[in-house]
Amino acid sequence: MIAKNRITVLGSFVADLTFHVPALPAWGETRMGSSFVVGPGGKGSNQAVAAARAGGNVSFITKLGQDSFGEMARELYREEGIDTEFIPTTSHATGAAAIILDEKRGENAIIIVPGACFELTADEVDLASASIAASRVFIAQLELPVPVVEHGLRLAHEHAVTTILNPAPAMLLPETIYALCDYITPNETEAATLTGIEVDSLASAERAADRLLDRGAGNVVITLGANGALLRNRELSAHIPAMNAGPVVETTGAGDAFNGGFATALAEGRGFEEAARFACAVAGLSVTRRGTAPSMPRREEVDALLALTAHR
Ligand code: RIB
Repeated sequence: MIAKNRITVLGSFVADLTFHVPALPAWGETRMGSSFVVGPGGKGSNQAVAAARAGGNVSFITKLGQDSFGEMARELYREEGIDTEFIPTTSHATGAAAIILDEKRGENAIIIVPGACFELTADEVDLASASIAASRVFIAQLELPVPVVEHGLRLAHEHAVTTILNPAPAMLLPETIYALCDYITPNETEAATLTGIEVDSLASAERAADRLLDRGAGNVVITLGANGALLRNRELSAHIPAMNAGPVVETTGAGDAFNGGFATALAEGRGFEEAARFACAVAGLSVTRRGTAPSMPRREEVDALLALTAHR
């Protein structure tokens, strides 16, 4: 039976090691940072947390090491009520991401070593097939081996589950993957990598979106940072503005907030534009806080922001 609000997320967990610095060091230079935070991250895990806090009934598929970072992940999923039945373990180490956050410019640079989660196999995804089939939405990103991601999308597609591919980080993809995506949600950089079209305006975003539709994706969302998101399919072209929920503190994980919120809204049966507005509210709130998974807002906050913007 298809469970209400059920979402399966296939993706990475890594520990985020975030260094806040007043200015980036040049190669060969050592600089003093102002603070250092260790917390849960990884695009898949961040999206699972965003979806769960936004009201989704979430099952997460990844792989963890039997170490302190792996335990950090399990503790997070216990707190957030995320189903961990399909999270196997390995004797290899859980991965990590080094996030350098430039406090003045508000920009970041990230190096991720996915570690344990990159050992996840297609056979292990198959173990979750009944759970995937019982989901309303399946979402994946690209911090796992691409054949495993494609396998998960195919499985969900065969069970008529709505699929979302967030093609992050940016990389070229096999042509076979597009027809498995009911929704594909690149940011500007990822859209440019996938299509070869530089995305620096709404018109160029529309051209890139059309290229992705031509390849077989059902619907395209190009997230545009502070400019919101472009939505496009064969019948619709719409621009959804970003939602301002207060001063921007950290944008790392904003894309994950958007995707987790989008998955939840689609799982609740909302239409394309309404789901994107909900996702913009989740992302708008997340950037007002530090961290990635810890910055994801709860449902009450999202509903309050949406109610407020409806009256503006
Ligand atoms: O999208 C942000 C995430 O990208 C961080 O949490 C980091 O772990 C990298 O995977």
